[in-house]
Amino acid sequence: MVNRARSLAADQDRHFDERAATWADRYRSHPSFRARLAVVGNAVDDELAGRPDARVLDYGGGPGLFAELAAQRATEVVCIDRSPSMIEWGQQHRSELGSLLAEAGFARAPGDVRRQVGDEQSLPARGSFDVILAIAVLEYVGDPVGVIGALATALRPGGTLLATVPNPRSPVRWAQRIAGPVAAVTTGRPGRIADQSFATIRPHGDRVPWSRAASAAGLDVVATTPVPLGDRGSRTWLHPNTLISLRASGDECEGLRHG
Ligand SMILES: C[S@@+](CC[C@H](N)C(=O)[O-])C[C@H]1O[C@@H](n2cnc3c(N)ncnc32)[C@H](O)[C@@H]1O
Repeated sequence: MVNRARSLAADQDRHFDERAATWADRYRSHPSFRARLAVVGNAVDDELAGRPDARVLDYGGGPGLFAELAAQRATEVVCIDRSPSMIEWGQQHRSELGSLLAEAGFARAPGDVRRQVGDEQSLPARGSFDVILAIAVLEYVGDPVGVIGALATALRPGGTLLATVPNPRSPVRWAQRIAGPVAAVTTGRPGRIADQSFATIRPHGDRVPWSRAASAAGLDVVATTPVPLGDRGSRTWLHPNTLISLRASGDECEGLRHG
């Protein structure tokens, strides 16, 4: 069991290392990534508009596109990712990330982002962050209940965890469950079919037990928002992901005062 988890993590690391240099550009060239940026970006922006002096963690942040967006408003932003290639690419291409955000309508002045290679073991001490982002990462962790618990611990009282999870009921997900294994044996081929191979490196498939994890961690569900497959046409009818907004219970005013 431990060996299987290790080999899956190694497959994931290879997968994301290979894609690090092209990851951010997907937010320009792929309709599903553009749609994710629009929905998640607006949610991040709205959340931070109501939280002056916020401290933000982008967990599994890849090159840190959402970390850079958060930094346009927040006082302190940390981006943690297990892939050194993702972290390095993001650090070396900050202005490219800024241009990409501006093209998507997020054009405020850039802030600071501290990038760090790490995983759930590197999460900081109790109650450090007002907002935590976990975008497209929970489906890759071996113990999502433990990770959501650790993220809840890192939130201040009244803090918000914004995360996306796959929607297992979406027809898009049914199709990927079929295409994934086929793509895995055709690796090396360029194009979108080969990219469906991510479906084989998710420990829980499309079923991330986020609701059970949230209630175990004492997080309240504030909202669930469908994330469409694309930003126009028939793609807007399909919703392969859900954005979830979870709130740490506690004295919200005290959390915002950073007391
Ligand atoms: C699908 S990418 C999403 C990147 C970014 N959040 C975004 O939305 O563009 C998933 C990222 O999670 C990272 N990752 C996977 N497992 C992780 C873990 N246990 N701890 C930290 N990062 C992890 C991968 O290295 C990868 O960069």
